[in-house]
Amino acid sequence: MSQNGIMYGKTAWITGASSGIGEALVYQFVKEGATVIISSNDIQGLRRVKAACGSGSSRVIIAPFDLADTSDITALVDEQIKNLGKIDYLLNIGGISQRSRVEETPLWLDRKIFEINYFGTIALTKAVLIHMIKQRSGHLVATSSISGRFGFPLRSGYSASKQALHGFFETVFLENKKHNIRVSVIIPGRVRTNISLHALNAEGKETGQMDEGLAGGISPEKAALIIIKGIMNNKKEILVGGKELLLLHIRRLCPWLFFRIADKVKPT
Ligand SMILES: NC(=O)c1ccc[n+]([C@@H]2O[C@H](COP(=O)([O-])OP(=O)(O)OC[C@H]3O[C@@H](n4cnc5c(N)ncnc54)[C@H](OP(=O)(O)O)[C@@H]3O)[C@@H](O)[C@H]2O)c1
Repeated sequence: MSQNGIMYGKTAWITGASSGIGEALVYQFVKEGATVIISSNDIQGLRRVKAACGSGSSRVIIAPFDLADTSDITALVDEQIKNLGKIDYLLNIGGISQRSRVEETPLWLDRKIFEINYFGTIALTKAVLIHMIKQRSGHLVATSSISGRFGFPLRSGYSASKQALHGFFETVFLENKKHNIRVSVIIPGRVRTNISLHALNAEGKETGQMDEGLAGGISPEKAALIIIKGIMNNKKEILVGGKELLLLHIRRLCPWLFFRIADKVKPT
């Protein structure tokens, strides 16, 4: 790390830090000089990521928690604020996907997906936002998906949970721009991570399968660079992926075509 890094002196909190996009973001933020709090439910994975930061690992703080159970989140946030003084960036990257048809998905599974993707994310965000308002600065980042912009087969609960994030984070911005709070929402298409392996089937079990479409996606490292550029440019929405992002434009500009083809697209 050099003192010339664009994040020198900054603090960032990254969830989903033990894998995929979140992990790649940790390495970039540390490389750019930030002090980074890393969270997920996988303590071993977080230890591995910290160790992989090499000489920068002294600026990495492990703070594991389950997005599905945020009852102690205020205490965790207060502890980090006490230690670091402030949080400049909160990157909500952690999340889980789904592969099950609507009629075979029990309601408890919809609720579980919402607990992790929506309620877990907003619980941490609310607890951090209070401090950002006091410090009169901060950048909140949420992770949606292209299927957070439209419905997509086998992802009813996932799509709905991601769409809910847009409503929440746009409101956070409108209420708090006067406090100098910035908000960005990442909209990934296909990024080559383990997301489909951990996606839940109708029994709530991980599928363990890599989607064909996802395997051809961009690398998490490339995704992290696009995301950091978007954050630095204070983009409201950061699109990440390849040609599958075209579906977003088709849905907006030519909805009839979207509804004709979307169920024939290979899964992301
Ligand atoms: N990859 C894509 O193509 C793609 C496309 C659209 C959107 N996204 C979104 O991008 C984000 C990152 O996903 P990824 O692709 O990097 O997948 P990933 O490699 O599976 O990483 C997901 C991360 O979320 C964490 N997580 C999952 N459930 C959790 C829980 N209950 N509590 C705490 N942490 C939890 C995981 O940690 P644990 O080990 O603790 O579970 C892991 O660190 C997700 O929000 C996903 O929906 C990805």
